[in-house]
Amino acid sequence: MKHFAVIGNPIDHSLSPKIHQQFAAQLGLSLTYEKILTNEHEFSTTVSHFFDQGGTGLNITMPFKTQAFNLAKIRTPRCQQAKAANTLWMDKGILHADTTDGVGIISDLSHHLTLNGKQVLVLGAGGASRSIIGPLLAANIAGLTLVNRTAARAEAVQIDFPQIKVSALTDLNASYDLIINTASTSFSTFPPGLLAPSTLCYDLAYNIHEPTPFVTWARQQGCAAVDGLGMLLEQAAESFFIWHGARPCEFLSIRSLLHVGWR
Ligand SMILES: NC(=O)c1ccc[n+]([C@@H]2O[C@H](COP(=O)([O-])OP(=O)(O)OC[C@H]3O[C@@H](n4cnc5c(N)ncnc54)[C@H](OP(=O)(O)O)[C@@H]3O)[C@@H](O)[C@H]2O)c1
Repeated sequence: MKHFAVIGNPIDHSLSPKIHQQFAAQLGLSLTYEKILTNEHEFSTTVSHFFDQGGTGLNITMPFKTQAFNLAKIRTPRCQQAKAANTLWMDKGILHADTTDGVGIISDLSHHLTLNGKQVLVLGAGGASRSIIGPLLAANIAGLTLVNRTAARAEAVQIDFPQIKVSALTDLNASYDLIINTASTSFSTFPPGLLAPSTLCYDLAYNIHEPTPFVTWARQQGCAAVDGLGMLLEQAAESFFIWHGARPCEFLSIRSLLHVGWR
């Protein structure tokens, strides 16, 4: 039986084991998938230990996507572009990395809006933000503005993606078609005028029990808002494909398993 895991900190909330077990069941595969908590100093040892013990594949969640990228010897082109990884595997003793977050969000957003010609605001400049910016730019959007609590981190992203604008939150004075929150704790106040009635707010965070704070805020302002559960399923399906060479047939049963609808 093949062994998989997701590494992060925190990790208790992760739905990845349930999702991958459901994908495997759909395809008649047997696998184990565990959650591994580690810290910045032990990340590299934790990854090595997992593969030394015969593990097949790892998902990487916050805050280790950049460390995972740095650890890998071979990275896919989209992973090189992002400088962040969420999927690791070993091939002939060499650690490989990919990022599936970009595919995940683009697939999920297609249920909600057309990206072509849209003005996009991205909040947060961590590993997930780096992974989605390239695919968003490739979707023919009109422009992308990046805001991060730590300005230097956003400026580092801009060096890799010179087409984007970087701004302080307080300097924003226009509305956006799409606002994507990738900050692990969302900003609590926003300047007025950021939202138009047609703005879609998309939160990478998710909570199967209640709307996230960012989704709640957006809906209170009268805007449509969705959380990152759809993206979670889509990025998991892409990781699953990398490891197994097969795609799960449908996600609806998994949503019902997690007690959530399309939202
Ligand atoms: N739905 C999905 O499939 C999916 C996929 C990937 C990630 N995610 C979610 O996306 C989030 C980010 O993940 P990541 O891997 O990018 O994490 P990360 O690399 O640790 O980055 C965290 C980001 O959040 C910002 N941040 C943290 N606390 C903040 C606060 N109090 N106020 C404002 N900004 C704050 C950080 O800003 P600084 O640079 O200033 O520290 C940084 O930009 C997590 O919630 C994760 O679960 C969801």
